[in-house]
Amino acid sequence: MTNFEVRQYDAAGRLGELSVPRAGVTVQTPTILPVVNPHVQTVDPAALESDFGAEILITNSYILHGSEELREPALERGLHDLLDFSGAIMTDSGSFQLAEYGDIDVTTEEILQFQRAIGSDIGTPVDIPTPPDVDRDRAETELATTQDRLETAAAADTGEMLVSAPVQGSTYPDLRERAADHARTTGLDVFPLGAVVPLLNEYRYADLAEVVTACKRGLGEVGPVHLFGAGHPMMFAMAAALGCDLFDSAAYALYARDDRYLTVRGTELLDELDYFPCHCPVCTDHTPDELRGLDDDSRQDLLARHNLHVTYGEIRTVRQAIRAGNLLELVDSRARGHPAMLDGYRTLLDHAAQLERTDRVSKDAFFYTSTESARRPEVLRHHRRLDRFELDADEVLLTEGGSNDRYDETWGVLPPFGPYPRELADTYPLTAEVPERTDRAAREAAADGVARLVERHPDTSFTLVHDDWPEAALARVPDGVRVRDLHARE
Ligand code: GUN
Ligand code: ZN
Repeated sequence: MTNFEVRQYDAAGRLGELSVPRAGVTVQTPTILPVVNPHVQTVDPAALESDFGAEILITNSYILHGSEELREPALERGLHDLLDFSGAIMTDSGSFQLAEYGDIDVTTEEILQFQRAIGSDIGTPVDIPTPPDVDRDRAETELATTQDRLETAAAADTGEMLVSAPVQGSTYPDLRERAADHARTTGLDVFPLGAVVPLLNEYRYADLAEVVTACKRGLGEVGPVHLFGAGHPMMFAMAAALGCDLFDSAAYALYARDDRYLTVRGTELLDELDYFPCHCPVCTDHTPDELRGLDDDSRQDLLARHNLHVTYGEIRTVRQAIRAGNLLELVDSRARGHPAMLDGYRTLLDHAAQLERTDRVSKDAFFYTSTESARRPEVLRHHRRLDRFELDADEVLLTEGGSNDRYDETWGVLPPFGPYPRELADTYPLTAEVPERTDRAAREAAADGVARLVERHPDTSFTLVHDDWPEAALARVPDGVRVRDLHARE
């Protein structure tokens, strides 16, 4: 029985529905689980539900387990009553505390039993968050322990509570893939990718993309995939396009405490803002000056609310982009917010073939929005389609690794796809919207009798290479451009 249904794909991104039987609710994904600290509530859970539409939140069962005041009330009243939240509640296990302080005093059996007893809807075993860049022995040893604990969790009597299966493996793609493959086979329900917080804190989005794609290779299309501790809205689009469905974060509250203001382009300091670049109720009703004039509690509350508005707003933007089929155009635009995001996007595009497997076959018009567009999965698919395209004329095309890549003047040329048989002109993705200047340059080059396709350059775009270029000129073709059989004219 599966508790997760995918409604629609865009790249590896998905619009999905997660059924949470214990709560009796269905959660729309992608979504964010705001972290609720049982002791300190910056925005209380009832307001998360009524003002922001939260369908699910996450809290820490280890904190409740160790709390003199809250442990008994949690057991007696249950989490939903204690927190005053009627949606789904996921509980973490104390693994984060384990990573921070080196030791915790519960086992996976104990904490899962406790999570079940307090009415958690999604429980978590005690995985070991192995940090990035550790030596391989440590990553392997700790992964083996995490895997044992997942098996313990899978064998435990957890009733209707869903149970998550965190995927570790540090920054070793093969370990991540193997860990994910194992997590899938446990039959557990939700798949968090663990120990990515250090990558996020250091803006290592390229490494993040490597980790996520490796995990996805092992998980396949079982879902839902949760990016543990990821809550900055600037990376939701990219993470969603890589196939993440759930995010969680205390960022909205922690950042508010430090007078930091979230945007989809990054983080701003309240002190440095003259204007609020946002349309939420907080930013519409106040100026930065007014906020600076408030007492600490009021200011923190309003900043946290702004941070939540941006966070949920970006979740809706991502959902709508998947619905419309323009998620990668959203990622492209978010990638311009920070050079590290651009690195992340380019790394995502290194895995275009992996993303292509779930990408949908037809969408609204493909928009050429940057030179990176040339490396999108749709372009890759177009070339694969040409590889298969049957011709009854003499021309033979682009057979993989072959030498007959000629095309003739009956073909059109469209960046970033390159040459295409005109019969395909009205089919997706060749109905693309392309900048006029780029399109004209390509057509002129083609009309010059020039043009033979050189495939997409990783960082620039596709390039047309003159037929009669001497061998020496090829030396000037930038690295990474694969010149397909330039000399095989005859
Ligand atoms: N919160 C942030 N990262 C992690 C992780 O790797 N494991 C668990 N259980 N919780 C987390
Ligand atoms: Zn705002």
